[in-house]
Amino acid sequence: MLWWIITTLVMLFYGVSVTKAVGLLKWPRGIQLFNYIDPESWKYNYPICNRYRQSPIDLNPDYFRYVVDSPALKWIGYDDVPDNITIFNNGHTLELSGFWPAPSIPFITGGPLRGEYLFTQLHFHWGEDNTVGSEHTTDGSSYPLEMHMVHWKRTYGSFNEALRHPDGLAVIGLFFEIDEDPERVAPLNMIFDHIGDVREANKKVNVMPFPLTVLDVIGRQFSFMSYMGSLTTPPCLESVIWILSNFVSPVSTSQMVELRKLRLRNNDRRNYRPIQPRNDRKIFFYLNNNGEPKKKQKCEARD
Ligand SMILES: *[C@@H]1O[C@H](CO)[C@@H](O)[C@H](O)[C@H]1NC(C)=O
Repeated sequence: MLWWIITTLVMLFYGVSVTKAVGLLKWPRGIQLFNYIDPESWKYNYPICNRYRQSPIDLNPDYFRYVVDSPALKWIGYDDVPDNITIFNNGHTLELSGFWPAPSIPFITGGPLRGEYLFTQLHFHWGEDNTVGSEHTTDGSSYPLEMHMVHWKRTYGSFNEALRHPDGLAVIGLFFEIDEDPERVAPLNMIFDHIGDVREANKKVNVMPFPLTVLDVIGRQFSFMSYMGSLTTPPCLESVIWILSNFVSPVSTSQMVELRKLRLRNNDRRNYRPIQPRNDRKIFFYLNNNGEPKKKQKCEARD
């Protein structure tokens, strides 16, 4: 009997560490054991979260290096309607993924990227009120909402393999600011209208497919900031080329209220990681004035 108890305890203990290792491999579909009450403690379970190339960071213009002669960032296939779109409350965020028939998965290339990066999912980060929420900040300022479009490098063959390389992922980050014009904020409702169906953690819903270009900024040219960083959630792998749009998109107060009704694990009321040390990293500012949306620009180029 005693032996049985000891064996069971050992197996339970062992099982927990195996689950953790498997969870890492399955990211982002697996459930990760972390919360936003104390992001500083992530490093105890996920030591990479304490390394030197972490995200998010403050995008401080003092450290910008301006790039004027780079090839444009190209968006290919984002006009195409996928076979299906799934909206998922994974317990940490609202996530959208889609299924495009094999040769026509949308991808980005150009700008700071060498090769093609395939779209896999997009998700959001927000806070308790409109004064906080974005993960990256620009010259110390937060936005109420930041959207991440996650892409992986085609030549690595799979998302999980790409995670293991310093240039494996390219994430486009879009900032949102409050705008009460119902017409301007309407595109976001293609996603937010389904929040009610996935209010509880782990709920998914299939929705009527639409092309991602319904969001105004997707597929357009804009100036952006780029630096080498990491996933902003455990295990914080340092495999991300960040591309952060200088074009700020609109979201309404009522849309933010709706998003905050999503029930996250640990009763988290926010899901943004605080800014991390920049260390000696450069932030490249890509000036793309060709076809730039003529809307408000934040952190204008100096000089
Ligand atoms: C999406 O469509 C593909 C191909 O038609 C199918 O294999 C897949 O199961 C679908 N996914 C969902 C979640 O419906």
